[in-house]
Amino acid sequence: MDRASTGTYDPSCFRLFEGPIPAAPDSKIVVRTLLMSLDPTNLNWLKLDPQLQAIPFGVGDPMFGVSIGVVIESRAPSHAVGDVVTGMWGWRRFDVVDPLFVRPAKSATEMSFEQQLAIFSHVGRAAAGGMTLIGEVKPTDAVLVSGAAGATGSLAAQIAKAQGCRVVGIAGGPDKCEFLLEELKLDGAIDYKKEDLREAIHRHFPDGIDLFFDNVGGEGIDAVLTNMAVGCRIVVCGAMSQYNISEKSNLYGVKNLPMLIFRSARLQGFVADFGPRNQIVDELLDDLAQRGQLVARTHVIDGFEKIPDALTLLLNGKNQGKLVAQVSFD
Ligand SMILES: NC(=O)c1ccc[n+]([C@@H]2O[C@H](COP(=O)([O-])OP(=O)(O)OC[C@H]3O[C@@H](n4cnc5c(N)ncnc54)[C@H](OP(=O)(O)O)[C@@H]3O)[C@@H](O)[C@H]2O)c1
Repeated sequence: MDRASTGTYDPSCFRLFEGPIPAAPDSKIVVRTLLMSLDPTNLNWLKLDPQLQAIPFGVGDPMFGVSIGVVIESRAPSHAVGDVVTGMWGWRRFDVVDPLFVRPAKSATEMSFEQQLAIFSHVGRAAAGGMTLIGEVKPTDAVLVSGAAGATGSLAAQIAKAQGCRVVGIAGGPDKCEFLLEELKLDGAIDYKKEDLREAIHRHFPDGIDLFFDNVGGEGIDAVLTNMAVGCRIVVCGAMSQYNISEKSNLYGVKNLPMLIFRSARLQGFVADFGPRNQIVDELLDDLAQRGQLVARTHVIDGFEKIPDALTLLLNGKNQGKLVAQVSFD
């Protein structure tokens, strides 16, 4: 397939294929998948646009993502049958995996597998690396986070809170806003479905925003661009509002970019793989998790067959935290 797909997400684009359990080739392992992360970026990858894909794939190939699984066959000296590992592989009950691309999972008694996927994965790394390495958060910052009740945004907001920042979150609906105030203990919450975003942001940040961690994109960026303090950093982690738009020509065009000039501000995107600096990010997550400073809600879908429908929860905002699918049990 050499052209991008168009249209909005339709669960019927997935097919379930049955096949034999694969055997491990030399130097590889076979994993039985326990838990799979379902992510907004899967919706992007489905567009089959090579510019949006982490690993190129086409029609008929399996979707893939970050998972936790147990090794059932090993032809690699590094791994034994029974090891529990995490890494990126196909959306399959059993898959052949290169051991170079997995790392050990923590034991389920130390931390549930759901919590591990919510915190010690690309999600936690995006939140922690985005806030610290890209956003260079500091205690005096006034911080705004969009998608703040979601998997990534909720961690990013808590990481900024743990630094001592004043943090306001944007989320859709009163329940999510209550979650931001009551459970995440943020300093403010904006319900973008009810409030005028630009006015609400101005009310919460009369002296301007120092750091905006954006998961949503679209009009929200324009609202922030007109409410920045000098030296503001806009960290572009995601663009949820733009993922389910049928034609590229309908994507939102940001209007206020020149404000970056007048506020000596910067806007930077990133992918949550910081190479050698992953270790710093993981240590920060470990430290905050051990201190009990990270609340990570998880939304578990039971069963492989329910995954296509479950992805719509990310689009209609009905997921309550990190969306994962339980595929089998240890
Ligand atoms: N850069 C990276 O490496 C990286 C890594 C992980 C995640 N991300 C990005 O982070 C963002 C959040 O991902 P997540 O896994 O944490 O998902 P999530 O926030 O748990 O779930 C998605 C949420 O997006 C919101 N949403 C959906 N459609 C929207 C729209 N049209 N306008 C505004 N909000 C909308 C909904 O919350 P409301 O009910 O509040 O609207 C929904 O619950 C995504 O954009 C993802 O691509 C990036």
